[in-house]
Amino acid sequence: MDETLYRQLAAERALNYVENGMTLGLGTGSTAFCMLRELAARLDDGRLRHIVGVPTSERTAVLARELGIPLTTLDQHPSLDLALDGADEVDRHLRLIKGLGGALLREKIVAASAERFIVMASFSKRVEQLGERSPLPVEVVAFGVPLCMRRLAALGGEPMLRRDHTGAPFVTDEGHLILDCHFGVIADPEGLAAAICTIPGVVAHGLFLGMASLAVIAGPDGITELCADGL
Ligand code: A5P
Repeated sequence: MDETLYRQLAAERALNYVENGMTLGLGTGSTAFCMLRELAARLDDGRLRHIVGVPTSERTAVLARELGIPLTTLDQHPSLDLALDGADEVDRHLRLIKGLGGALLREKIVAASAERFIVMASFSKRVEQLGERSPLPVEVVAFGVPLCMRRLAALGGEPMLRRDHTGAPFVTDEGHLILDCHFGVIADPEGLAAAICTIPGVVAHGLFLGMASLAVIAGPDGITELCADGL
């Protein structure tokens, strides 16, 4: 079995938590896109009905429209029943790193707008400590890049401006830039999150702490569901 299949399995299992009439947050990334295809199939054959979704990125919106998934906005539906999204890293407390796909700001807003947030991932995303494998994406306003770089470096993050495939700075859906920060293992995610939030020019960071209520992880040993402490 390969990564693609694990993503698919995780997405299918997570969709079993969707009920008719729900408003959903629709994540971004390859796992979320598996979920969108499966959601469209369930809407097509009548297994699910009366679903509307808020996309977390323009890419998700495009795919959802192609698949015929009804979309809405947070203006129309400020509170969502359930958000479904992937992650770049997941620890045992369901703390996440997200944002390698560049949609962290909208993903965080959508997840925070939902009563429940379920993360779907292949087992390769499970880590003992956040930062083991992934840099931490930090979304910043362009004017603040020099200051943000200095302050993030002082926190130990070795920030690198993200570029697109043409070499130009990667611009998010909200018109900001991303600094990928290589902290290595993050011993105190809550402390780091608080410190990053004090930097003027930072719009969002990829630490999603205390947000996910369930993680559905698929791997060679099957599908595991991890519940967050106290959620
Ligand atoms: C998008 O900005 C990210 O937060 C994604 O959720 C994350 O990168 C996971 O993507 P994959 O499902 O493609 O691994």
